[in-house]
Formats: sequence, structure tokens, C-alpha cells
Amino acid sequence: MGAANKQCCCCQSMRASDERYQKLADIIARYAGQPGALIPVLHQAQEVFGYLPQDVQVLIAEGLDVPLSEVDGVITFYSLFTSQPKGKYTIGVCMGTACYVKGAAAVLEELKQQLGVDVNGTSADGLFTLNVTRCVGACGLAPVMTIGEDVYGRMKPEAVREILDKYIQAEQQAKA
Ligand code: FES
Repeated sequence: MGAANKQCCCCQSMRASDERYQKLADIIARYAGQPGALIPVLHQAQEVFGYLPQDVQVLIAEGLDVPLSEVDGVITFYSLFTSQPKGKYTIGVCMGTACYVKGAAAVLEELKQQLGVDVNGTSADGLFTLNVTRCVGACGLAPVMTIGEDVYGRMKPEAVREILDKYIQAEQQAKA
């Protein structure tokens, strides 16, 4: 863990002013020494940070006295954990058979272009994370795209820009 443990003074002062790290310390303290602590600690840390960045993984490994490789292994194994930041909205493009046959791949390509990301990537503005999904049970509407809880059926690549703009505008209005 050597190099990963070295932190510059500015990182430490940023942490001191970030109450999420205090919450993390509390979570670790609550579980330290208990068998099977790693998964509940990772779960709660992800609720606090939204994802599990490297420095958080190091703190958890140290606090629970488990190898960093074990922390990394658990995060990689369980799909509910992520070490990448998530956008405010998760976009899911269904790649089930019905959707695929009806052109889901073209919709996905357009989303990649418009967002400037690959699958599992998050747009630079932090708004959207692009995922692919299995059948979401709306095959009659294929191809299907979801954004958060919203479902868009019979999607066409040409419709992508307008739909994304709706969320971007709503975000701008909320900030105004
Ligand atoms: S295959 Fe896409 S909703 Fe079923």
C-alpha cells in the first residue's frame, strides 16, 4: 500500500473541511474489528460519497486492516459498487434482443457521440452516466432508453439530442 498512503498536505486539509471524510471515519470506527465488516462499510461509504474513489478505498483498507487488493476485489466483483463518479442521471440503453433488433445500437452510438463518453462513462458536466441494460420488460416499445425513472420507447437516434436537452434545461432552470 506504500505509495497510496502518501498524501500531500493540501489533500489532508481538503479532507479536514469535507464532512464526508468525518462520516467515513465514523462508519469505519463503528465496524472496525468486526468480521464481515468490509461490505457494509463499502456500502455506507458509497452512500456518503456516491462512489468509492481510490483515497476512500485506502482509508477503508487501513481502518479495517484488510489488504487494499481485497477492497478493490470486492468493488470489482459486486456490480452495486463503483469506483467511478456517477452522473446525476443514469441513462440505460436496453440491449435485450428486441431492442437490439430494433436499432438500440444506433441509439447508443448517438448517445456516446452527444455525451462524449463511452459506456459506463459520465459526461463532463456530471449530469449523465451512460449504461447499457438487459431487457427492462418493455419490449413492445423497443428500442427502449431510460433516464432515471423515465422510460423512452421507440427511440431513434434523431430524438436523442432533444431528450438530453430537456434534462440540461431543467438543470439550468433549477440553478437559476
Ligand atoms: S429487450 Fe429491451 S425492453 Fe425487452
